[in-house]
Amino acid sequence: METLYLGTSEEDIARAGEIVANGGLVAFPTETVYGLGADAFDPEAVENIYTVKGRPADNPSIVHISAREQMKLLTPEVTPMMERVMDAFWPGPVTMICLKTDEVPYVTTGGLESVGIRMPSSEAARALIDAAGCPIAAPSANLSGKPSPTSADHVKDDFDGKIGAIIDGGPCEIGIESTVIDMTGDVPMILRPGIMTQEDFEEKLGVPVILDPALNKKPDDPDFHPKAPGMKYRHYAPKAPMIIFEGEEEAVLEAIEREKTEHEMAGEDVVVITFGEDEAVDAARELFARLREADKENADLILAAALPQKGVGFSVMNRMLKSAGFNIRKV
Ligand code: TXA
Ligand code: MG
Repeated sequence: METLYLGTSEEDIARAGEIVANGGLVAFPTETVYGLGADAFDPEAVENIYTVKGRPADNPSIVHISAREQMKLLTPEVTPMMERVMDAFWPGPVTMICLKTDEVPYVTTGGLESVGIRMPSSEAARALIDAAGCPIAAPSANLSGKPSPTSADHVKDDFDGKIGAIIDGGPCEIGIESTVIDMTGDVPMILRPGIMTQEDFEEKLGVPVILDPALNKKPDDPDFHPKAPGMKYRHYAPKAPMIIFEGEEEAVLEAIEREKTEHEMAGEDVVVITFGEDEAVDAARELFARLREADKENADLILAAALPQKGVGFSVMNRMLKSAGFNIRKV
């Protein structure tokens, strides 16, 4: 299949919308990461996303909408608490888990009775949904297990010739995926941390919001029973082994330098990824791109500095720990 390379002009978005409306796959930019989209109500089209990504069928896709009135197609009841989340965070990098209507196919929800819904702030993404005339189911546009794509080039590396079109909207502003918040229980629960943090939700909603206790736990931890199916898989993994150094900043940088020199003397290519303790937002934006660059350079080893696990730092560490297979060294 020849993949069309498109921009964000009205004409290009219209073309991409037609592809989605006809059951095809289109990769598109969002403020978080690029998504690989299909008509959320077309089971065959959604099935194709899973095939090209190599994604396990039990991992549900997020459904993207462009207007609140589309909520009723997807969920039987919009609760007052859901209204508050939408008022505070939409359009933007927040996905709400809600009960699904009978019309949402089980391929889209990974067999669950709930559906993840998000209204992106990216204008190109919302224009595509309008042009397609349907909500768009879209996981991140990467091969399953690889770091999420934050540019159209990343998508091209994984899917050239395998999907209908790629819309290039430039690099993603946020760089890590949306915060996933489960709205089906008595207390809202964050299932995947993102740029919008527990503190942000508690402040805007004025009620307690809890974190899934499995978050940032090792897969062999007794608490590791994540409620979002996608959180149980090894993700974001670069090809090279990765070590995270954790401790006092200066000591960490020294330890990384020592380790780097040692491996370079053995002829290895070492990539270092460090961000300052107050640079979590920059780390979020750049982490996946750095990991993909390391792959392109055929790095033998990646050395990274841990971020303090609070606020956005907790969310970045959620990805970094998985990238490194929880290979963490305290210094
Ligand atoms: O920022 C984002 O969310 C990006 C862009 C493209 O919107 N999308 C994204 O999709 O990251 P994906 O498929 O890579 O991650 C979706 C996550 C997975 O961990 C999945 O298990 C969880 O959301 N999820 C989706 N629907 C769910 C549901 N009904 N119940 C629990 N978890 C759900
Ligand atoms: Mg993903």
